[in-house]
Amino acid sequence: MLEFSLSSAAADTADTPCVVVGVFDGAPTAAAAALDLASGGVLTRLREAGDLSGKPSATLVLHGVAGVKSPRVLLVGLGRKQEFDRRAYARACADAGLALKGLPIERATLWLPPVETGGQDPNWCVRTAALAIDHACYRYTATLKPAEHGAPHLGKLEIAAGADAQRGLDEARAIARGVAFARELGCLPPNLCTPTHVAAQARLIADEHPGVTLEVLEREDMQKLGMGALLAVSSGSATPPKLIVLQYQGAGDAKPYALVGKGVTFDAGGLNIKPTGGMEEMKYDMCGAAGVLGAFLAAVELKLPLNLVCVVPSVENMVDGAGYRPSDVLHTHAGITVEVLNTDAEGRLILCDALSYTCKRFAPVALVDAATLTGACVVALGAQASGLFSADDRLADELLAAGTSSSDRAWRLPLWDDYRVQLESAFADMANIGGKSAGAITAALFLSRFTEGTRWAHLDVAGTAWVSGRKGYATGRPVPLLVQWLINQST
Ligand code: BES
Ligand code: MN
Ligand code: ZN
Repeated sequence: MLEFSLSSAAADTADTPCVVVGVFDGAPTAAAAALDLASGGVLTRLREAGDLSGKPSATLVLHGVAGVKSPRVLLVGLGRKQEFDRRAYARACADAGLALKGLPIERATLWLPPVETGGQDPNWCVRTAALAIDHACYRYTATLKPAEHGAPHLGKLEIAAGADAQRGLDEARAIARGVAFARELGCLPPNLCTPTHVAAQARLIADEHPGVTLEVLEREDMQKLGMGALLAVSSGSATPPKLIVLQYQGAGDAKPYALVGKGVTFDAGGLNIKPTGGMEEMKYDMCGAAGVLGAFLAAVELKLPLNLVCVVPSVENMVDGAGYRPSDVLHTHAGITVEVLNTDAEGRLILCDALSYTCKRFAPVALVDAATLTGACVVALGAQASGLFSADDRLADELLAAGTSSSDRAWRLPLWDDYRVQLESAFADMANIGGKSAGAITAALFLSRFTEGTRWAHLDVAGTAWVSGRKGYATGRPVPLLVQWLINQST
């Protein structure tokens, strides 16, 4: 995680290893003009020679520019000035971050012009820049041999902005911490990131913050509570299940907000075992849990004036003689019976017990769950947007808005009763799968039966919580969306 601070220095005289300056396609920015003047027209000459287009994603590093104090200037294309909106701003920050990650420097200072359309908000600008650059500079090291003589890399970012952007910086610090927490937990391999480890991470959050309490429910507790669905998923695993309950009190005895996250530390599929090719990515099947824990951490760090609970069912879905089977009928904590028609639809089974438990015990003002729930959601929305499901229009709009302003977008899909027939079963109140079509919707609809009477929304983060492939990482989504939503709820 980077350290962030505000800077009031000028680009040409700043004492920094690297000056980062935005340049438009065809128009000057204040900082670029200052550099051009101080250097006797270096930027003008680059532009005339065609080396400096200012187009989006174009970056250029200059060394030893005469008249500029810093040894390095990183120029970042912003695109056309009249099109420089919040999306373009966030994209330019990510480009700057990528370029900075490759430079052998420990500190950099950033000058970007304010966005042209969509409202001027220095807090938003600073927060967005800090988070985008922090995101780009993430390095996973937990299970790597320590580098012996690695090149230095970025640890500090200074952002040129006025003191009116302090709040944005404070929010960025907290959100970056939550995102880093979620990414680290998501990336950690499943032999290390077990339900016990997830519970230990929650313990660290509680120990660090005096206002936070933690309970970890064990298998026997779940048996007493009749959580037959959660227990069934865990039954084929040699590592014990955990139901993690964190509570933060920032608003006396007000009703809490609640976050619930899917914490399957590895999803082999159970007896309906997953085919070869991609099973290794199912270490990320606890990213919903990592996301709600990270959001909880950020909310606590920000000392938000609200009460918050975070509930994480964590299990492994393995293949074993003691495991559950297709056609088993499970008794849930809510009293609803479920026929298992596919042991790979396990996320909804652990969530249904956690959701009804959270509703019953805490009667939350609103409950949002996050889960890497369906491949169908990846097919529908790809890696761009998380799937959002809610019967409550206002809650859905709040979450969509929070996603847009935090560059962590969601897109709403329907939760109509019309799809319910797909979940019918002859042997139980419900089946755990809804057939070929509308897989993300029937999964959400399944969950909805366990939150009746509560303002609830579901985020399917199967496409957004990590980047696929050998060098992909957990992204930390939906931490930014959730924290933004909680911030908005408390102001
Ligand atoms: N964790 C998976 C969902 C998933 C799959 C996320 C691929 C990201 C990439 C979930 O537990 C699962 O296996 N879902 C099944 C449900 C099906 C059996 C109804 C799926 O999506 O195929
Ligand atoms: Mn599965
Ligand atoms: Zn899963």
